[in-house]
Amino acid sequence: MTSILVLNGPNLNLLGTRQPEVYGSTTLAEIEESCVAHGASRDISVSCFQSNHEGALVDAIHDARNTFDGIILNAGAYTHTSIALMDAVASVELPVIELHLSNIHAREEFRHKSYLSKVALGQICGFGSHGYVLAIDALKAHLDSAS
Ligand code: DQA
Repeated sequence: MTSILVLNGPNLNLLGTRQPEVYGSTTLAEIEESCVAHGASRDISVSCFQSNHEGALVDAIHDARNTFDGIILNAGAYTHTSIALMDAVASVELPVIELHLSNIHAREEFRHKSYLSKVALGQICGFGSHGYVLAIDALKAHLDSAS
């Protein structure tokens, strides 16, 4: 069975109340539930983890090596700053889809730069919480075509 890790970074635990005009009103728990349910309907096992700490996210990416077939990563603001997360993704050689609820390219200029895009399989952004389901389908299609 295909196994996917949905990994969320800083401040995403506050989804639902955090700037709903930008990020929507769906909570992280609801997003995670919908990811697990969507996966189950397609014979994909989905696990979810969130941390506000860069090192914990690096550890989760390392640990995914032996457990998961791929990762969906919303690294929040670390997207724009973290060489450590970019290096972690490059090091584990798992397919990683970079995800953002908002369209980062239509926002402030500092959000246009992504270290993760250099090493990610691709990026999904601007579709709100629905982006996670799109990412699961995209990752599954990639894994199926690669096997
Ligand atoms: C985000 C976009 C980032 O720029 C921001 O720092 C976030 C959330 C998104 O999902 O749209 O925390 O990754």
